[in-house]
Amino acid sequence: MFESIKDQIKNINKIVAVTGAGISQESGIPTFRGKDGLWRNHDAMKLATIDAFYDNPKLVWEWYNERRRNIFQAQPNQGHKAIAELEKYAQVTVLTQNIDGLHQKAGSSKVLELHGSIVKIKCSVCDYKEEILTEISNLPPLCKCGNVLRPDVVWFGEALPQDVWQNAIVFASQCDLMIVVGTSLVVSPANTLPIYAKQNNSILIEINPENTDISDDMDLVIKDTSAVALPKFVSLFKKNHN
Ligand code: APR
Repeated sequence: MFESIKDQIKNINKIVAVTGAGISQESGIPTFRGKDGLWRNHDAMKLATIDAFYDNPKLVWEWYNERRRNIFQAQPNQGHKAIAELEKYAQVTVLTQNIDGLHQKAGSSKVLELHGSIVKIKCSVCDYKEEILTEISNLPPLCKCGNVLRPDVVWFGEALPQDVWQNAIVFASQCDLMIVVGTSLVVSPANTLPIYAKQNNSILIEINPENTDISDDMDLVIKDTSAVALPKFVSLFKKNHN
C-alpha cells in the first residue's frame, strides 16, 4: 500500500495530518456530504450556518444536541489511534476539521481544531464562553445576558479562529509529510493546507475511498478507509524508525 514512498519515510520527522469527517465515520459519526449527511431530511450543511441558527435556533440546537449525544458515546477508531501512535516515531500535529474530540480521546497530544469543538458553547452576543459536557435541556439555551447561546463552532461563511489558523499554516508549511485523511477538501481555508505543504516540498498522501479535487496533486492516493490504511502506514513507519 505504501511501498512507493518506503525509501522516503526514513527522512520524515515532522508529520501533519489534515483530517475531516471521514476519519470519524467508522466511529459512527455521519459525514457531511456522504449519503449519511442528512438529519431529519435536513441537509447538514444548511443547518451548520448562522442564517439557519438565527432563523430557527431551536432546530439547530436539536441537531447539535443529537450530535453531542452521538459524539459523547463515540470512541476513537483504529485510524485515530494510529495517528496517536505515530507520535512515538515523529513530531505529529493534527489539523482537524472535526469537532468531535476523538483525536484527543485517542491520545494525540497536538490537535488544532480548525472548526471549533462540540463541547464549547458561547454567547451569540457577549463574550461568555464555556465547555458543557452534559445534555442541554431547555433549547435554545440562554446566556445570563439574555441572548441565545450557540455552539462554539465555525459555521459556513464564518472566519476560523485566527490564532488557530495562523498556527495551522505554520505547521503545514514546515512538515516533511502531510497525510490528508477523510476530507472532501471542499471547505476553505482548510482545503488550502495541502498547498502550503506542497510549497515546502513535503510528501503528500491522501487516504479516502473516494477521489477529491486534489487527488491528482498527491504523491500517493490510498483508496481505502482510514481505519484500514492508517494502521498499515504506522506499521511501515515504525519499521523504518526504530
Ligand atoms: N475513511 C476515510 N475517508 C472517508 C471514510 C472513511 N471511512 N468515509 C468517508 N470518507 C471520506 C468521503 O469520501 C469524503 O471525501 O470522507 C470525506 C468526508 O467529506 P465531508 O463529508 O465533506 O466532510 P469534511 O471534508 O470533513 O467537511 C469539511 O465542511 O460541513 C463542513 O465544517 C464542516 O468540518 C466540515 C467541513
